[in-house]
Amino acid sequence: MRLDKMIANLGIASRREVADACRRGGVTVNGVPALDASVHIDPERAAVVYLGTPLVYRKYTYVMLNKPEGYVSATEDGRYPVVTELLTPELRRIGVFPCGRLDKDTTGLMILTDDGDTAHRLLSPRHHAKKVYAFTCRDPLDADAEAAFGRGLRIDGYTCLPAALSVNPDRKSGRITLTEGKYHQIKRMLECYHDNRITSLSRLSFGGVPLDPTLPVGAWRYLTEAEIKILTRYDTKGD
Ligand code: URA
Repeated sequence: MRLDKMIANLGIASRREVADACRRGGVTVNGVPALDASVHIDPERAAVVYLGTPLVYRKYTYVMLNKPEGYVSATEDGRYPVVTELLTPELRRIGVFPCGRLDKDTTGLMILTDDGDTAHRLLSPRHHAKKVYAFTCRDPLDADAEAAFGRGLRIDGYTCLPAALSVNPDRKSGRITLTEGKYHQIKRMLECYHDNRITSLSRLSFGGVPLDPTLPVGAWRYLTEAEIKILTRYDTKGD
């Protein structure tokens, strides 16, 4: 693989920036300055240092985004801003895409990656990846709500998988954990349960990875090695 491609794929610099850094002697391969960014290296074995930072090669890129309201979970949309606009041009260029969907007005944890297999596995109904949301709703939930959600609500002829609902003392907010992801699922669940309405929804964790509480709304960061391990080795016991 070309050196500039290897570094650019980590999302830390564009190929042009890598070429500039190489010309200035800022990149070493196995301890030797690489003046030509187009040199071919074995990314699994070469010790690459970019502007003083040793790089760990990763075939795929994984980021977490704290999604704001008003953004569509897509890479392109004719009408609304898309979540990938909140990333760098480099990350867009390598083709990271949202792993699953949140509604335009839903906020919180969104994982983006270019690892299609992992995304597919996490989204596959067979894997039952856990998604935890904080919600508020218009009307107070009655005392039966937790049990009814836990049994599996019936929405539009479909019986949902059991969902763990925990309601705060105000009975108008709480947490809900899903192991599936149907279109507008939580909004539809609340609607079918005594015609209630969701007034805010935010995802707190996905597949055992929690939203970093220090990540401001609209900001993103790379997943840590530990978080990547949780997602790439995800099974139903993983969280
Ligand atoms: N359920 C919804 O209704 N909306 C979301 O964005 C996620 C889950």
